[in-house]
Amino acid sequence: MYIVFEGIDGAGKSTQIKLLKEWLEANGYEVETVVEPTDSEVGKLIRRILQRSDATTDRVQKTLGLLFAADRMLIMDKLSDEKKVILSDRSFISSLAYQEPADWIAEINKYAKTPDLVLLLDLDVNKSVSRTSGEDEFENEEFLTQVKENYLEIIKNFNHEIIDANNGVNKVSSDIKKAVASCVGLCPDCIP
Ligand code: TYD
Repeated sequence: MYIVFEGIDGAGKSTQIKLLKEWLEANGYEVETVVEPTDSEVGKLIRRILQRSDATTDRVQKTLGLLFAADRMLIMDKLSDEKKVILSDRSFISSLAYQEPADWIAEINKYAKTPDLVLLLDLDVNKSVSRTSGEDEFENEEFLTQVKENYLEIIKNFNHEIIDANNGVNKVSSDIKKAVASCVGLCPDCIP
């Protein structure tokens, strides 16, 4: 089972992945977590480039598109472990939402694994901007408004659930558990 968390910066993906992991493990599942960009050499390079002042220019965006696809390729085997539930902080769907053009991004990611479930943590852009450090060039209102719009279109192509990430941590967590429960064979009505 490959479950992917997506959403604009500051949506609370890492907190929610931690909570879902604890809950799944308490229910007897073996869980592995993945974060993109990864801590590989390519991932480290990506994080440096994200902080450049020209990170949102077309030239650097295309470079990032290629690097994200390469970074993802390095973890491909890990995502196919049949015995585990893999929870991933981002996937190639982030590349489709953040980089362009879409057909080229789809082409260079054609070997990426399709998620069994996409959880879109949908947060208001103004909240995103105030929650993030502003360290990365991406963390600005205009850019994130476009990304949020892209997400809502792209996820229609996948088995997905939209989670309102403007709510408090516990409410978001219980909404996520409900969405995941039926997917992994647990009872959705048993979640408070
Ligand atoms: P990170 O600091 O991990 O942000 P967050 O904690 O919000 O996920 O940096 C990831 C940044 O990289 C984030 O702004 C989204 C962007 N990104 C892409 O543009 N394309 C991609 O394919 C991926 C995986 C991330």
